[in-house]
Amino acid sequence: MAKQIQAIRGMKDILPQQTPLWQYLEDRVRSVLGRYGYDEIRMPIVEMTELFKRSIGEVTDIVEKEMYTFADRNGDSLTLRPEGTAGCVRAGLENGLIFNQTQRLWYQGPMFRHERPQKGRYRQFHQIGVETFGLEGPDIDLELILLTVRLWKELGLEGLELQLNTLGTSEERANYRELLVSYFQVHYDELDEDSRRRLESNPLRILDTKNPDLAQVVAGAPTLMEHLSEESLAHFEVLLKGLDDAGVAYVLNPRLVRGLDYYSRTVFEWVTDQLGAQGTVCAGGRYDGLVEQLGGKPTSAVGFAMGLERLVALLETTAVAQQLPGVDLYLIMMGDKAKRKGVQLAETLRDALPELRLISHCGGGGFKSQFKKADKSRARFAVILGDDEVAKGEVGLKPLRDGGEQLQVKIDDLAGILADRL
Ligand code: HAM
Repeated sequence: MAKQIQAIRGMKDILPQQTPLWQYLEDRVRSVLGRYGYDEIRMPIVEMTELFKRSIGEVTDIVEKEMYTFADRNGDSLTLRPEGTAGCVRAGLENGLIFNQTQRLWYQGPMFRHERPQKGRYRQFHQIGVETFGLEGPDIDLELILLTVRLWKELGLEGLELQLNTLGTSEERANYRELLVSYFQVHYDELDEDSRRRLESNPLRILDTKNPDLAQVVAGAPTLMEHLSEESLAHFEVLLKGLDDAGVAYVLNPRLVRGLDYYSRTVFEWVTDQLGAQGTVCAGGRYDGLVEQLGGKPTSAVGFAMGLERLVALLETTAVAQQLPGVDLYLIMMGDKAKRKGVQLAETLRDALPELRLISHCGGGGFKSQFKKADKSRARFAVILGDDEVAKGEVGLKPLRDGGEQLQVKIDDLAGILADRL
């Protein structure tokens, strides 16, 4: 036998037994976004490499070491998108959406990052992202967070913690950056190699270090919050008040700086302790400078993205995962007459009940093996048709999930009975 070819490390198949939970999640999110007036946009998976360099930032883990970048046949440098915000802004500018004040957008699909795979971290993963444009005030920051709160509630997810921080404007960060550089220069001997490099290129990222040896020196660093303008502080305070009014709990986390450079002012993450090290299920913030940086007019913007693999993993721990329905009916047929009658019956039922999910047994086999297949399909009812039943104009109707006796019913009454029961 020929050697089988395996999937690429960190890129998983989503199998038929998992897709119902994915569809459930995607349907719920789509429904909530629709109810808040967000429109879907679909962008290409591949973009010019330059787009991500200019938006995510040259000195970030994503751009420095995680992008799938390759030369196109005509020599252009292309990249599989590591995230959706850059592409969404590009598409919004190119198609006049931002100019025409289309303000609330969402997208979904695969993203690619060459990270070290582990539980909850993959090289191909899926996000649903939300981006809003041209809305300056904290009311939209609040709306986005309330939207996520509603989503967790509707999905039955508990124990998620909202972490919040503000990063100020780019000028405020530039001033703060100088303070931070002076501080870390005093503590240069205590820094690791990565941080020394970042001291030149992106000192704020030192605050984000995962190296426990640096915990103390990082804890002593000046905080950005102490050096923000009145406006930035007011923006943040109005958001916090709004969350208080809505009864949404949050934790202020001054170390939350995010791994992408385009953020300004509000940043937030939803974190759980139920998934191990990769506990952030949703993250985002304001990026008021990005539209201009990508060639548009100055336009404020704020958004977030959720990691679907992580949300599915959380949903798997809830009752929802056990209760997802399979098909409605599994049609079991024994004997030649029954097989012929069964094909007609299945189509008649599909005509009568357009939403009906019905598997018509194919491939023969005894009652026992057909019942096994019916059970595996998680069908709510089996409909049993043998040559005897055909002669009498009846079928057997057996509930498979909720208990109850098998009934014999007239073939002509079946659609009506199912319409009542399903
Ligand atoms: P991000 O924090 O890089 O932000 O990713 C958002 C979410 O995607 C994470 O919180 C996580 O749930 C999921 N995620 C990221 N990397 C992986 C991975 N390797 N495996 C599995 N899940 C992953 C962004 O991407 C921004 N574009 C969010 C945003 C939108 N900000 C403003 N608008």
